[in-house]
Amino acid sequence: MNVIVVYKSRYGSTREIAEFIAEKLREHGVQADARSVDTAPDLEGYNAVVIGSAVYMEHWMKEAAEFVRRNRTVLAERPVWLFSSGPLQLEPGASPDDPELEPKEIGEFREIIHPRDHRVFFGALDPGRLGLQHRLIRKLPAARALLPEGDFRNWDDIEAWAGDIARALGTP
Ligand SMILES: Cc1cc2nc3c(=O)[nH]c(=O)nc-3n(C[C@H](O)[C@H](O)[C@H](O)COP(=O)(O)O)c2cc1C
Repeated sequence: MNVIVVYKSRYGSTREIAEFIAEKLREHGVQADARSVDTAPDLEGYNAVVIGSAVYMEHWMKEAAEFVRRNRTVLAERPVWLFSSGPLQLEPGASPDDPELEPKEIGEFREIIHPRDHRVFFGALDPGRLGLQHRLIRKLPAARALLPEGDFRNWDDIEAWAGDIARALGTP
């Protein structure tokens, strides 16, 4: 069983999630590589695919969405799991599974590639690394509360999800 974890990350936190998922899959006895979409990974030779993107302004990053569309035929023939790395802070009582937190592309992806699952994971934000445009967006009153500084990634949740994938692929 050979799995590729494809990701698109702007500032690195989604890359670290993808690398962590690949590492956890390997611990479950699944051969797994993490690759950025920017390396145009070839999916032939992989039995299953995990694809994740950072979320900006309620969308997957364009390169990740284009990767899914470009590879839709191959992806539709394989087991695929999707993840989005996004929310930093939620309203009290809200959950990352709320449908309104789902990036806009996920409905389309469900139709064209039939993923086994899509999960939203909490992300991370380091203001010192933001590009100018993101820094300006973060200053808007509506955005400020939603985009706090910090690392909110929940590694236990991510590890559990990697375990689910390994089990679905038939490893103990
Ligand atoms: C300008 C800006 C807009 C963002 N918009 C969203 C959003 O609409 N939805 C969301 O869940 N997360 C949003 N985020 C949070 C990022 O997705 C989060 O910081 C993520 O972990 C970044 O991943 P990266 O380090 O791989 O680029 C936004 C962050 C910034 C800086």
